[in-house]
Amino acid sequence: MGKKRKEKENRNNRKFQGKIIVITGASSGIGRQAALDFVTRKAGPIILVARSLSKLLELKRTLQSVREPEGVDIIPYPCDISNRDDVLRMGTHVLEKFGYIDLLVNNAGYGEFAKVENQNLEQIEAVMRTNYFGMVHCTKVFLQSMLSRHSGHIVNVASLAASFGVAGMAGYCASKYAILGFSESLYHELYGTGVRITVVSPIGVKTNFFNNRSFENHKPNYTGFMLEATTVSKAILAAANSTRLEIMVPFYARVAVWSKHTFPYVVNPVVGKLFRRELDRTPGNKTN
Ligand SMILES: NC(=O)c1ccc[n+]([C@@H]2O[C@H](COP(=O)([O-])OP(=O)(O)OC[C@H]3O[C@@H](n4cnc5c(N)ncnc54)[C@H](OP(=O)(O)O)[C@@H]3O)[C@@H](O)[C@H]2O)c1
Repeated sequence: MGKKRKEKENRNNRKFQGKIIVITGASSGIGRQAALDFVTRKAGPIILVARSLSKLLELKRTLQSVREPEGVDIIPYPCDISNRDDVLRMGTHVLEKFGYIDLLVNNAGYGEFAKVENQNLEQIEAVMRTNYFGMVHCTKVFLQSMLSRHSGHIVNVASLAASFGVAGMAGYCASKYAILGFSESLYHELYGTGVRITVVSPIGVKTNFFNNRSFENHKPNYTGFMLEATTVSKAILAAANSTRLEIMVPFYARVAVWSKHTFPYVVNPVVGKLFRRELDRTPGNKTN
């Protein structure tokens, strides 16, 4: 490795050295990759949050092997973020143990692919409870301690679905629009406090996200435009040192959002048709 590259890598590592980080949705996909990337850059202690304890324990072993022989404090914390008592317990435990955190990555989430008329209210509410209220629960539990220290960063993983409502993903898109709206308001409230918030909005990513049964006949084409989790994780690391409100991944996805707002009468019919065609592939979801 060249001298300059090594220096740059050391500089980047120093940014995260010793930082206390909570990552939700750490048991899989983007969150798991972010945990690996933070630990590689000497961050820690790291608190890994998800419902699956066995996956978090497996990740803990992997992360500790990355940091041998000096070691790193990894706390796997099984927690359903849609349940506010669970989150309060997790947050209280973390703050009692460490006193504060430097970074909260609100990444946990899931989606279902179905028409609104074929979903029951419970399904629509459940996605909002995890994706949106889960983020709100975690933000509320750590925000005050960040404000008291005039330091801290919240990174919220939204999606391009925070800017496009698409057929078959109404509940999911609503939850991501809500994340972006909440984050934008909080961004302005936090001005001058020393605490920051940044949203990371990726397009499709190759993770277990599409293992949800509702995607059974709608698996994305993995050879196409889909991102690797490493690309999104890189954006999360950049977001953790950014003053920006939203980072889109890839950056040129911003052009699509701009086009939609500037030429809605051209863009909306195209996007509408694309996803309606996908819905039509399952008979129960057929549009008119
Ligand atoms: N993949 C994509 O195409 C894509 C695109 C844009 C945005 N995103 C967003 O990226 C984030 C991460 O998704 P991913 O692609 O990495 O999917 P993934 O591989 O399915 O990971 C989702 C993570 O969220 C956790 N989770 C789900 N519900 C939870 C709950 N109630 N409480 C705690 N943890 C919960 C899961 O862990 P447990 O099951 O163990 O709880 C898992 O660790 C999501 O917010 C998703 O909306 C994904």
